[in-house]
Amino acid sequence: MKILNGKELASKIKDRVRDTVSVLNESGHGVTLAVIQAGDNAASSTYVRNKRNACDYCGIKSLVYNLGSDATEEHIVNLIHVLNITDYIDGILVQLPLPSHIDERKVLQEIDPKKDIDGFHEINAGKLLIGEKTFVPCTAKGIIKILKENNIQIEGQNCVVVGRSNIVGKPVALELLKNNGTVTICHSKTKNLELICREADILICAIGKPRFFNKEYISPNTVVVDVGIHRLEDGSLCGDVDFDDVKDIVSAITPVPGGIGPMTVAMLMENCVEAKIAKI
Ligand code: GUN
Repeated sequence: MKILNGKELASKIKDRVRDTVSVLNESGHGVTLAVIQAGDNAASSTYVRNKRNACDYCGIKSLVYNLGSDATEEHIVNLIHVLNITDYIDGILVQLPLPSHIDERKVLQEIDPKKDIDGFHEINAGKLLIGEKTFVPCTAKGIIKILKENNIQIEGQNCVVVGRSNIVGKPVALELLKNNGTVTICHSKTKNLELICREADILICAIGKPRFFNKEYISPNTVVVDVGIHRLEDGSLCGDVDFDDVKDIVSAITPVPGGIGPMTVAMLMENCVEAKIAKI
């Protein structure tokens, strides 16, 4: 069984980004990311801190706008409009989820698609669907990258994605398809889910339930990508996969923590640089 070490790979990628950013800085093209957080969701605060730390490491300037849980939709949209027309801002990220009184979809559509480094704007989601060059959502991009860097073939393989969110499930399914995988998208309502998962050569677990995938879902030689991250009552972290139950069956698996999480952040750094380079 091979552990697909996302932390190590992310670190290498961030080193490459740092080199690129350093060259950009020298030529007066510093990179700046604006992050908007509304509310004090503990997990979101951790993610935002991780993104900020990665920016610091790479030499990317980050501006974090912490708007509090009573922020109105208008408040957020007005801030986005200002960031859209501020020339030195290259990327705008709205940390999700937003408080329930705010229409996430509406807010995301206000971001200038050229600054939409998460790739969540309808224009960019549409481009992804039809195979045009665009910002690929960071988690999907990170999953493809970790598979490729570990020489795991996607072409022709049975790729089963469990989860259909706009952030992970749908974009990763499209990216696997782009790489000539044979893709099945499943979700919590899928019939015979165990059976379908056991047919997978590559299984993407993004169902959002702690330790949901046990050995009943996995057949020998499967590559398992665990997208979930959950904090248990004892303070420890686990993924959507019951790691201990499946570790002796799988051919390779991404750990939690240290798997897809750091890859997502590294891909965000790449997307920020892409946004800048497209401008110059
Ligand atoms: N919330 C969970 N994942 C993400 C992500 O990739 N980007 C943003 N903006 N919010 C998230």
